[in-house]
Amino acid sequence: MAYKTIIEPFRIHTVQAIDLPDLAVRRAALERSGYNLFGLQAHEVIIDLLTDSGTGAMSSEQWAGMMRGDETYAGSRSFFRFEETVRDITGFDHIIPTHQGRAAEKILFSVAVKQGDVVPNNTHFDTTRANVEYQGAEALDIVAPGGTDPAKVLPFKGNIDIDRLRDTLANAEAGAVPLVMITVTNNSGGGQPVSMENIRQAREVCDEFGVPLFLDACRFAENAWFIKIREDGYADKTPRDIAREMFSYAHGATMSAKKDGLSNIGGFLALNDSEWAMSARNLLILTEGFPTYGGLAGYDLEAIAIGLKEALDENYLRYRIRSTEYLANTIFDGGMPIVQPPGGHAVYLDAAALLPHIPAHEYPAQSLAIELYRAGGVRGVEIGTVMFGRVDPNGGPDEPAAMELVRLAIPRRTYTQSHIDYVAEVVIDVANRADRLGGYRIVEQAPWLRHFTARFEPIS
Ligand SMILES: Cc1ncc(COP(=O)(O)O)c(C=O)c1O
Repeated sequence: MAYKTIIEPFRIHTVQAIDLPDLAVRRAALERSGYNLFGLQAHEVIIDLLTDSGTGAMSSEQWAGMMRGDETYAGSRSFFRFEETVRDITGFDHIIPTHQGRAAEKILFSVAVKQGDVVPNNTHFDTTRANVEYQGAEALDIVAPGGTDPAKVLPFKGNIDIDRLRDTLANAEAGAVPLVMITVTNNSGGGQPVSMENIRQAREVCDEFGVPLFLDACRFAENAWFIKIREDGYADKTPRDIAREMFSYAHGATMSAKKDGLSNIGGFLALNDSEWAMSARNLLILTEGFPTYGGLAGYDLEAIAIGLKEALDENYLRYRIRSTEYLANTIFDGGMPIVQPPGGHAVYLDAAALLPHIPAHEYPAQSLAIELYRAGGVRGVEIGTVMFGRVDPNGGPDEPAAMELVRLAIPRRTYTQSHIDYVAEVVIDVANRADRLGGYRIVEQAPWLRHFTARFEPIS
């Protein structure tokens, strides 16, 4: 293109009104929810960047496909269209639909992982970690050096540490590592991509020890795009060919179609091992449904089959990654410290750097997230000591998390350039008066996953 402006590669066909709650409404909502943004209702939020999972817009092709949904219980046409698409993109033999990503994880780990095992991953997503631990196994994060340093700029900051992977496999008891996972892109590590070389090397190490390699493939298309624009030798390849090569190094994958399936619900487990697949299908029948629908409606399978192909469209991916980068660069230039370089699906604000006067046990990232909502109705999510800190059983201050971040996740094909410009204006305004923000204390919390329901009050 001769012009530098990246336009949304779609025009709007159906619109959904957003509310514009004023300051008084937002203040009241904060008080009612105990300053917990999970407690807000949709009509109280102007721009919702809580998650990119299942919150995107579907295309007219997807909606049309849904009308073709075949709801036959066993052997529906929709399942075979879904299976053909997933097999074509991933190359795996067995395609098992699930209602979302964590269901695929639960089934895979129930089949493959036992008490005392170790599952290495670049960084486990929280449901992945929980499902590994639920089997009594250890979820071991071994992201490559630099992957947890917010300011460090590396092209593939999501890479798994190959040396630590080899050491882990070499030192484990025989059979104690049932599989290795790589999360593409690395959500919990800032949405950072993994290089093809890294996936290939991980496969070589896995082969040395006879251990299968699985991809947590939620954002496989975004990862493929990063490989195309950042890794030597891939500039002229299509995202589809790159994705196919990524999957070719793996023995299987878990997927949440709520991300790069461009759908509001769904997922799958795909793998080559016939014995594991048979056990997985038996469990699927117990927990999700018959193997040709796996907890989904026929119309969901249609939407996913079409969404997976649309997610690999070059125009879409160029716009997707550029628009995330645009928000990141604009707010960084305006004075907001962020995790560098920007990831694919989200921008991560570095609250520890912005608010050095608020100690970790007074939740600087929670304070920043609250202020973004109070000032502009923008909802992000705290990823810091509220979410990952450890509570002191003796009532002392929490043990801090490694980073104090606020994630602004961008739903796919949902907001326009002016929505993003508005978000940038709010973020920059808050950054410019950061010294006036104060900390919070928790007044009520659950014994686990407290971030969803804890209540806070300002320390003034
Ligand atoms: C990397 C990663 N893995 C797994 C999941 C779980 O997917 P789901 O929410 O569909 O269960 C998510 C969801 O955010 C994710 O980002």
